Amino acid sequence: MDESLFYIAGGALVAVTLILSLVGMRSGRFPSGNVLAAGLVVVFLLVAATAVGAVELAQHEQGEKLEEANTAADVTEAEDTAAGQDAGAAPEPTPGGGSGEGASADEGGKVFVAAGCGSCHTVASLGSDAQGTIGPNLDTVLAGQDDAFIEESIVDPDAVVAEGFPGGTMPATYGSELSPKEIDALVAFLSQSAGS
Ligand code: HEC
Repeated sequence: MDESLFYIAGGALVAVTLILSLVGMRSGRFPSGNVLAAGLVVVFLLVAATAVGAVELAQHEQGEKLEEANTAADVTEAEDTAAGQDAGAAPEPTPGGGSGEGASADEGGKVFVAAGCGSCHTVASLGSDAQGTIGPNLDTVLAGQDDAFIEESIVDPDAVVAEGFPGGTMPATYGSELSPKEIDALVAFLSQSAGS
């Protein structure tokens, strides 16, 4: 139902009411049976049309709002699924879970910056927060590496020393400084963001 129809019906109702009262004032014979009956029928029809119009208009607006809300929800859902797949983690993150599953890649990016990894490593997705050159560019060296390798590189950096970079430079203390949850988040973030 179009909005303008509703206004037209409403306007016509006002017009008919005015005409009827004018006729009533002018004519001494008013209300004569014929005029009254015809007028009442027209008024009734217009009232009915306006009421239907109002209801349909309200439903229409409600429907639009629902649609908007649904679209917004769809987008968030799609983003969640994409992030979950990229991180190789379950789509439903388990808050507080200690296992690698469900660790949030977003959180990992924050841990990366907060722990100071960015002062030695470059990760393009973190922009100016991670442009270090003392350690290897993680976008390059982590391409194709699995989660286990990434985790080992963080908690025991000298287990495998990246080619062309000095061993014993990256702090070996992250395994005890960071919580298991933070390390999981870091691994999720690096496997998703770096190397892709
Ligand atoms: C003081 C500088 C420094 C800091 C801070 C630092 N790293 Fe490193 N990192 C290095 C150096 C140098 C290497 C290369 C030598 C090696 O593999 O141990 C390295 C290697 C790595 C590797 C392995 C790359 C490969 O292919 O072997 C990963 C992964 C890594 N760092 C992640 C991190 C994370 C995550 C943090 C923060 C929690 C961090 N680093 C903090 C200097 C640093």
